[in-house]
Amino acid sequence: MTTELQTSLSDVRRRFDADAESAADEQALESVRVTYLGRNGEVTKVRRTIGTLPAAARPEAGRTINDAVASMEQRLEELRRRLEERGVESELNATIDVTFAAIEPQLGAIHPVRRIVNDSCAYFARHGFAVVVGPEAEPDYYNFDALNIPADHPARENFDSFWITDGVLLRPHTSPMQIRTMQQHRPPIAVVAPGKCFRRDALDARHLFQFHQVEGLLVAENIHFGHLKGMLTGLCRELFGAEQRVRFRPSYFPFTEPSAEVDTTCPKCRGKAASCAMCGGSGWIELGGAGMVHPNVLREVGYDPGVYSGWAFGFGAERLGLARYEVDDIRRFVESEPGFLQQLS
Ligand code: PHE
Repeated sequence: MTTELQTSLSDVRRRFDADAESAADEQALESVRVTYLGRNGEVTKVRRTIGTLPAAARPEAGRTINDAVASMEQRLEELRRRLEERGVESELNATIDVTFAAIEPQLGAIHPVRRIVNDSCAYFARHGFAVVVGPEAEPDYYNFDALNIPADHPARENFDSFWITDGVLLRPHTSPMQIRTMQQHRPPIAVVAPGKCFRRDALDARHLFQFHQVEGLLVAENIHFGHLKGMLTGLCRELFGAEQRVRFRPSYFPFTEPSAEVDTTCPKCRGKAASCAMCGGSGWIELGGAGMVHPNVLREVGYDPGVYSGWAFGFGAERLGLARYEVDDIRRFVESEPGFLQQLS
């Protein structure tokens, strides 16, 4: 083998090593391969000079070149792997910081109003009450007539709400469920009827035009107002704790006699601020109405008022929520602000 061929081969190899070493990515490495090992590459140029050698020297020259090609290919493969490893490494360094605090998944929670409804129903269920649900759109018979509110009765005004068609309206209270239940069953009856209600009320800190009520009804022999007070006081204790005060205030509903409104300590001022926007300075907020089922209502469903008596109540679930969670504005329950809901969950 001539020194000349060897010299040019080692010259090619030196340049190849330098170029390959400095290739910054796989694409650059590939162009190095083409430049040196390609069909018209540097090595091929050297190979072509074999023809100028004496015949005896050619085989060895061919072998030397082939060895050089194999070694260069091996080098390229090593460098390709190194680039790959560096790529993974720099990707890890750039985008994954294993010490970084994990992003906590946002978990949903039961809405506070739903919890009030569930907990109220659970309280009554524990005392032997059944849970019943009914339609949100009611004929005026269930809403009014059967509840001792005839067509010309001024009490209709309070409940005059969203009429869907003549004689059918979105229920302004859950009391129609009293009638539906009593018409389907004979006494003794003990039910709790939670559900959505609708009223033409202006929005403020205590009023929504769509809200929820928890209605209760107990009819049997010898039922008196003390039973009502006991059950409702127990409910408030359960939901608010024993310190929260509850009061029964004489009131009027056509479907109960006597009637009461039930109040609890104002969650905002706790009865202390004369200018409180929540309770108007009274120190109390109203949870809802209650009373002894009116004899006319019992008669309407075919019960003998001489034998049976009963009590009923209807509380606003959002109002219960105000007191339980010490929220200062009822509208927060429908704004669905995640921070607020999370805080109460
Ligand atoms: N239905 C009444 C209201 O919504 C509340 C009530 C229910 C009063 C049952 C007495 C008995 O205001």
